[in-house]
Amino acid sequence: MLIKLSRPSDCKESDITPESLYLSRRALLGGTAAALAVGSLPRWAAAAEVSQYADVDAGAAPNWFAEKLPGTQWQAVTVKGEAITPFKDATHYNNFYEFGTDKGDPAANAGALPTSPWTVVVDGEVGKPGRYALEDFMKPYQLQERIYRLRCVEAWSMVIPWLGFPISALLKQVEPTSKARYIRFETLQDPKHMPGQRSGFALIDWPYVEGLRLDEAMNPLAILAVGMYGRELPNQNGAPLRLVVPWKYGFKSIKSIVRISLVEQQPRTTWQNIAPEEYGFYANVNPTVDHPRWTQARERRLPSGLFSPNVRDTQMFNGYADEVASLYSGLDLRKNY
Ligand code: MTE
Repeated sequence: MLIKLSRPSDCKESDITPESLYLSRRALLGGTAAALAVGSLPRWAAAAEVSQYADVDAGAAPNWFAEKLPGTQWQAVTVKGEAITPFKDATHYNNFYEFGTDKGDPAANAGALPTSPWTVVVDGEVGKPGRYALEDFMKPYQLQERIYRLRCVEAWSMVIPWLGFPISALLKQVEPTSKARYIRFETLQDPKHMPGQRSGFALIDWPYVEGLRLDEAMNPLAILAVGMYGRELPNQNGAPLRLVVPWKYGFKSIKSIVRISLVEQQPRTTWQNIAPEEYGFYANVNPTVDHPRWTQARERRLPSGLFSPNVRDTQMFNGYADEVASLYSGLDLRKNY
């Protein structure tokens, strides 16, 4: 993106969960058995047991999240045969420009952001607009665990277990009008707690904005996430509410959302404003359409280092072609990058 040349992750080899160990743990903890076990365990023990991820910082979940967690549908979607990225990497190698441009800045600076109370506004072309405290906003939704690949436009990738719910469920609640064609998302503006918003880094016209076509948002893979690795979202990953659209480059997955608007016109997004020839509205992961400054045919799966670069071929739509390719039939993906 603006943006640094890629550099090896800081992660040590010893931080990596060997795939064999990870796979055998998963075999032990089948989804149904694990879900049944939840009720009988203390809150965080339950999360750790069920989600089985190593070295996860337990966090300090707000009450509404802790109350919802036992009802979670674990492993509702998963990625077969690919190791989940260690929690440490997923939470210390981040893009969240509101907190700085280095990969370590969000972990270093986001901790002080107050995420409770949090208000979400739903407005625009909807029958039921509203302004909700997050706990009320979340009431209708059951959490699901979705284990997805995350592919950044910078050509690194991870596998992350998210906790969230389909955007289609939200759209059902708020009743888009017949004029609604796109959905626009906006991140919090809080220069006091977001140093990137008060620095001389003026390239971004805050707030960070992203958008989807309505039919993309309705796709069952598109979710709003409130947690990851069996716990609430860490601030650097977009607490308390972020978008996750796994077939698109990571910059579409806007963090710390405060406003969701149904609109008639295609919204102008943050990265389109900065460099329209490099970052399009669609941003579908596509190994055959290179970024003007680098190839998109391959990616570094994190953690990666000088002696184990962990490079792999990028998959069309990040491996989700069966689920999403039909959304784009007839669309020239070279022009609509
Ligand atoms: N959302 C906001 N508000 N600000 C950002 O800078 N960065 C995006 C996206 N969402 C960003 C954002 C980019 S470029 C990526 S790759 C992903 O967040 C990274 O998510 P992660 O840090 O949880 O891996």
